[in-house]
Amino acid sequence: MRIDIVKNKIELGRAAAKFVAGAAAKKPHLVLGLPSGTTPLLMYRDLLRLHRKGLFDASKITTFNLDEYYGLAPDNKHSYAHLMDRMFLRFLPVFQSHIPSGLIAREKVAAYCRSYEGLIASGGGLDLTVLGIGTDGHIGFNMPGSPFDSRTRLVTLSWQTRKDNARFFRSIKDVPTQAITMGIATIMSSRTILLLASGKGKADILLRALEGPVAEEVPASIIQKHKNAIIIADEGAAHKLSKK
Ligand code: F6R
Repeated sequence: MRIDIVKNKIELGRAAAKFVAGAAAKKPHLVLGLPSGTTPLLMYRDLLRLHRKGLFDASKITTFNLDEYYGLAPDNKHSYAHLMDRMFLRFLPVFQSHIPSGLIAREKVAAYCRSYEGLIASGGGLDLTVLGIGTDGHIGFNMPGSPFDSRTRLVTLSWQTRKDNARFFRSIKDVPTQAITMGIATIMSSRTILLLASGKGKADILLRALEGPVAEEVPASIIQKHKNAIIIADEGAAHKLSKK
């Protein structure tokens, strides 16, 4: 595990974009796992800048998003599909992009999740997966207590996660209660993991995730067991870490 500390969220975006573009330069057919949420937005902006300058060729890349709210259509402005399109994918010609659908009928969800795993496997598996971290330690939408051997599935969102994400909705009542997410084992199968953390609000959980015990109560703590994990944190998120 390597921890890179940068000054602020702008530098975090730059460093993360440089890392992703570097991986794509080394392996043009990169299979890339992507998060949504606020933390990666400046990374996406910087990847688009690198693309415009001819420094990031995404034409052979396949992307797989980590998660999607269950019940939201891709054109719902709160869906992660909509966010990804608006902030990134509509400006970047990738080879293929996949985002879990939030509209699968309940009785078909298990088969759908297996097919999402199948798509990842048939693409050669995840080369690089970028992660954010929730204030309760979730990665993807794997809530505290998620089994470390979990795969893509339908999950119920914790109150804390719904509360944190209510800022994007009119009120917490509008935040979906469920989501489809890659599992912890899916994420851990990625050859490289890049975890991003920004802001003082993430300092406590980053400390628990990186220096506390590896436990299902803190899903991100599993990163400690990954052979090739890089953490990029800004000074706000990193200020409690002792192992810098
Ligand atoms: C979103 C995702 C989540 C977020 C986490 C942090 O696709 O996978 O795990 O990374 O909720 O969200 P932000 O970045 O908004 O603090």
